[in-house]
Amino acid sequence: MKMQNKDRVIVMSIKHILYSLSFLMIISCSRDNGEITTPPAEDVINIITTGERVFKELITSLSSELGMAINNGGFKAAINTCNISAIPITTSIYEDNHSILNIKRTSFKVRNKNNKPDGYEKKALRYFEELEEFGKKFPSYYVQKIQEKDDVFFRYYKPLMINELCMNCHGVTDRMSADILQELGELYPDDHANGYELNNFRGVVSITISDEVQ
Ligand code: HEC
Repeated sequence: MKMQNKDRVIVMSIKHILYSLSFLMIISCSRDNGEITTPPAEDVINIITTGERVFKELITSLSSELGMAINNGGFKAAINTCNISAIPITTSIYEDNHSILNIKRTSFKVRNKNNKPDGYEKKALRYFEELEEFGKKFPSYYVQKIQEKDDVFFRYYKPLMINELCMNCHGVTDRMSADILQELGELYPDDHANGYELNNFRGVVSITISDEVQ
């Protein structure tokens, strides 16, 4: 049967989408082997201002959501909030800050494998882990300028330390409540995010900032 014009347009559009998708996949696959340098001083000021604003927004919203969930249903109920609420919160941050390309929490010991670090994040995590190992004072942030072919962007990292609250869900398992352990075990069968002590380095918030809109 001869192809109608309309069908041809649909086939063309599908082809177009497939090409675009494979292009995007290539881009995301290469997201690890760009060149990392220290951003120039004039960019650092903008990166810090944007990074701090986004970090505060994220932490304030997450803490209030978590606090509400703990008050209403205890820590077990809060486990779901930790996972579910993070997504709408970050979406609203993207809408308010067009220079933000990505916001993520990551660690060498992840609970959710979707949070695993990429190559640049591994370097940032190693930087903080070495400071911890040698008992050195942590700076409040770490920045990278990343060049992937013609694409340039910045990363702003904030270290996250373990406090009393975190111990309920990331602490040493012998001291955690059986209820929480059971719930975590069901949701995350491959969980590596336990065994932390107070004031341990847990991971980073990783914020990717465009070099265009600041
Ligand atoms: C009510 C339980 C709960 C508390 C309290 C809690 N977390 Fe988590 N945390 C989780 C869960 C559940 C995840 C996995 C979220 C997901 O699926 O993305 C997680 C994930 C993370 C991640 C992302 C990396 C990974 O392991 O997947 C970091 C970093 C993190 N938590 C740090 C902290 C810090 C720091 C504190 C204290 C300030 C804290 N958490 C308090 C339950 C909790």
